[in-house]
Amino acid sequence: VKITLISGSHRTQSESARVSRYIESRVKSLISADSFRFELTNNPLPMWDESIWDDGEVWKTSWLPVADEISSSDALIWVVPEWNGMLPSGVINLLHLCSAKEVSHKPALIVSISSSRNGAYPISQMRMNTGKNNRMLYIPEHIIIRDVKQMLVGDAPANDDDQFIRARIDYCLRLLEQYALALRQVRESGVIDHKSFPNGM
Ligand SMILES: Cc1cc2nc3c(=O)[nH]c(=O)nc-3n(C[C@H](O)[C@H](O)[C@H](O)COP(=O)(O)O)c2cc1C
Repeated sequence: VKITLISGSHRTQSESARVSRYIESRVKSLISADSFRFELTNNPLPMWDESIWDDGEVWKTSWLPVADEISSSDALIWVVPEWNGMLPSGVINLLHLCSAKEVSHKPALIVSISSSRNGAYPISQMRMNTGKNNRMLYIPEHIIIRDVKQMLVGDAPANDDDQFIRARIDYCLRLLEQYALALRQVRESGVIDHKSFPNGM
């Protein structure tokens, strides 16, 4: 199994990047999966425009290498911070770039983070409408990491919340691996017909 991890913060010193690195280490040690980690730090991707439909030059160096990594993955993990009660704009941009070609019928785990007590809104925003056309499948479990600066820092859990979050991450990774294996069968079934039905309803 290969898993793509996305860190959804544009910030240079971002907690999302730190959390995504922690989760990647668990991906490797707990479920022995291959991984590809992609950070939106410093906005590595241009803003979506129509030239992507004509394989515009700018996309060849920026997006296509990332798209290839995602295409060869069986599952995704989105580590997304809550900014002003929303997803950062770079995450929305990336979701516009992710087409059915890269992510359709692949399981995805959402991990939302907050330095305080919030963090629910990015989950609802992701779940509400970001898979209509690309057919990415968010698994029923998700994770909200509150007080993120105190979580997943040292080798040992700092407190009960940290211990709970670490256990929850491990549980979700095991589950994601099973969805990844199971959904291969759906993708290989021959039933999927994106020619007749290119967009979701
Ligand atoms: C522009 C901005 C807006 C924020 N708005 C919220 C918010 O609405 N809710 C919240 O819980 N935290 C908010 N925070 C605090 C973040 O939870 C905290 O900075 C966290 O570390 C962000 O993740 P990042 O470090 O990966 O960017 C905001 C942070 C930034 C930079």
